Amino acid sequence: MIQAVAWKNDYLELLDQTLLPETTGYLEIRRIEEAFEAVQNLRVRGAPAIGITAAYGLYLGLRDWTGASRDQFFQAMEEKIRYLASARPTAVNLRWALEELRRNVQNSAETDIPALKERLLRLAVDLHEDDRRRCELMAQHGQAVVPENARIVTHCNTGALATGGIGTAFGVIYHAHRSGKKVQVFADETRPVLQGARLTMWELAAARIPSQLICDSMAASLMKQKQVDLVIVGADRIAADGSTANKIGTYPLAIAAKFHGVPFYVAAPLSTFDLSISSGQDIPIEMRNESEIRRVFNKSLITVPEAKCWNPAFDVTPPELITAIITERGIIKPPYGETIKAEGRLPARPQ
Ligand code: MRU
Repeated sequence: MIQAVAWKNDYLELLDQTLLPETTGYLEIRRIEEAFEAVQNLRVRGAPAIGITAAYGLYLGLRDWTGASRDQFFQAMEEKIRYLASARPTAVNLRWALEELRRNVQNSAETDIPALKERLLRLAVDLHEDDRRRCELMAQHGQAVVPENARIVTHCNTGALATGGIGTAFGVIYHAHRSGKKVQVFADETRPVLQGARLTMWELAAARIPSQLICDSMAASLMKQKQVDLVIVGADRIAADGSTANKIGTYPLAIAAKFHGVPFYVAAPLSTFDLSISSGQDIPIEMRNESEIRRVFNKSLITVPEAKCWNPAFDVTPPELITAIITERGIIKPPYGETIKAEGRLPARPQ
């Protein structure tokens, strides 16, 4: 299994996803600013993976802190949390991970600063391992919606590159494949950053899962030709009513699925739910640089250099288009307003 994020004794190793699939290159992250840069520039991406990176980043930002009092340490921690949380606005896992660390450290009676720092590192390592377990559980629960010989459309990248384990939506597909279900995958290329073409196809090839790459605009035609049994995607933030922010292009995919009677599933850990947001319109959507659209992944220019572009990184799929949400606890079905509330939020570590 590919590891996008790995703690190496005294530094964080990140697989630089901007180089894939041509080059497998790793970064040694030793400073909080480097962790911030890696998240902001998509060297590490995917909701759970950026949460894990931020957790290690917080430790890196405080390990050389030289003050003496617990209160000052917490003050410094607060600043670093604000800084890291500002790297990307949409995936709530980033903020969630930092809040888990804050809560846990503040609740400890520890006054010794080196011990508080050690505690932060241990929490980051635990959170990372915890995500691996959540992925496995999601993958197992997800089997209920994947029939034998399923033909599956997926969008963006939701595998080991995006998480601490086998992935969210990708994990469900991967588990179906390893348990012999003979699945076939159509991966949306996922314009403009091409996470589907560059990353998901790379993971599908590594796992030897039969797959074909399609342009985002082709999924509806595939559905019309009755070549799709289900769609499964990940999520960056799920509001209390089930509205789901995910990579731009997810919403039109859900509309096409509804129109053609194809079930549309979201797979996400409970750390992706944000119950403080009641509906999709309040989910902050990251706007990215126009140059991502003018060029095909930093390479050839595909328009006039002065072209103005609109580039939201995510869209929001309304709950009425989502057949069910797969989590590490099981499958949540509509009416989401009630079923999500009943679910609550998972503690930092699943039992
Ligand atoms: O901009 P990205 O590449 O971080 O966007 C990632 C996605 O939208 C994924 O679908 C989402 O984070 C779920 S990944 C487990």
